Amino acid sequence: MAGNSFGKLFKLTTYGESHGKAIGGIIDGCPSGIKLDFDAIQNELNRRKPGQSKIVTQRKEPDTVEFYSGVFEGETTGTPIGFVIHNTNQKSKDYTHIKDVYRPSHADYTYDKKYGVRDYRGGGRSSARETASRVVAGAIAKQMVSNIKINAFTSSVGEIFIDKPYQDLDFNKIESNVIRCPDEATAEKMIAKVEEIKKQGDTIGGTITCVIQNVPVGLGEPVFDKLHAELGKAMLSINAVKGFEYGSGFCGAKMKGSEHNDLFNVNGTTKTNLSGGIQGGISNGMDIYFRVAFKPVATVIQKQDALNSTGEIVEMQGKGRHDPCVVPRAVPIVEAMAALVIADNMLLRRQESKEW
Ligand SMILES: Cc1cc2nc3c(=O)[nH]c(=O)nc-3n(C[C@H](O)[C@H](O)[C@H](O)COP(=O)(O)O)c2cc1C
Repeated sequence: MAGNSFGKLFKLTTYGESHGKAIGGIIDGCPSGIKLDFDAIQNELNRRKPGQSKIVTQRKEPDTVEFYSGVFEGETTGTPIGFVIHNTNQKSKDYTHIKDVYRPSHADYTYDKKYGVRDYRGGGRSSARETASRVVAGAIAKQMVSNIKINAFTSSVGEIFIDKPYQDLDFNKIESNVIRCPDEATAEKMIAKVEEIKKQGDTIGGTITCVIQNVPVGLGEPVFDKLHAELGKAMLSINAVKGFEYGSGFCGAKMKGSEHNDLFNVNGTTKTNLSGGIQGGISNGMDIYFRVAFKPVATVIQKQDALNSTGEIVEMQGKGRHDPCVVPRAVPIVEAMAALVIADNMLLRRQESKEW
């Protein structure tokens, strides 16, 4: 299983399983001399951790990160940054009912068929617990590129969505409610929806919008490594993500070029920004914004037909502590993955610079 690393110069490798002793990672390529704010790193983890509100899974994990290398007297040393997050609240018994059963639309069937290994306790390596390590690395990446502002928020839950452009929202309000929606009236409706869905033992999907501001011109490349392609891969690598669109996205496909073109100002900025801050794979200095679609997650606390390992359709009922809607916990994950892409591309741009 080789795909455990992400990034070219700012490179994160993660390890660990949901019900093993610990998860963690190694960040290779982080420059030296970056003063780290450890409270800010832990705060990002707290935004992702389970049990933080009534509308997320009730698994209680402190998710405390410990650093083992690459940091001295509060600053990065330029050597690999090794870190660990211990798993302390595993309840593997919650999963014995699916030991020989593949949950529909989860990773169980494909993982077992490919690797011949079934870590039924919470999905093993395919569990979204792995994303805690991404959040740690993303928090460091954010601090490395601290001039660049990365804000993600819940923009829809089921059919309920924010009916305003992001420019009309106050990002300081993202953390003011448990769903992480900066529009308070919409947030209330979203929370009520998740509570209703949870009572039904069901799950619901939603979208996250991410806005990256103060990005310099020149991040990304024109061919395979287009900046939006890198962001797309980053977002689509998050568990339960089913869609990614940036700028005008799928709406742009319904428009005419004369409507869609972003006309220039003399300083190279543009009057509109349907390009989403990226043209020809390279950032143009305008805001980068994109949306990520999350499915309603697979584990419903209802009876459903499932396949067992001997090839029979059997009835199963989901059990244990699951998220009725993963979107609020995924907000810091989206920000983290965006920060990893931006940090990596800042280093790549420095390497490609004409000035030595
Ligand atoms: C933050 C987060 C929490 C998740 N929690 C659950 C959960 O409680 N139950 C579940 O069935 N899936 C959960 N998922 C989704 C699964 O990890 C994911 O659906 C599974 O690995 C299969 O991958 P796929 O949906 O990308 O195909 C969560 C995803 C994220 C991002």
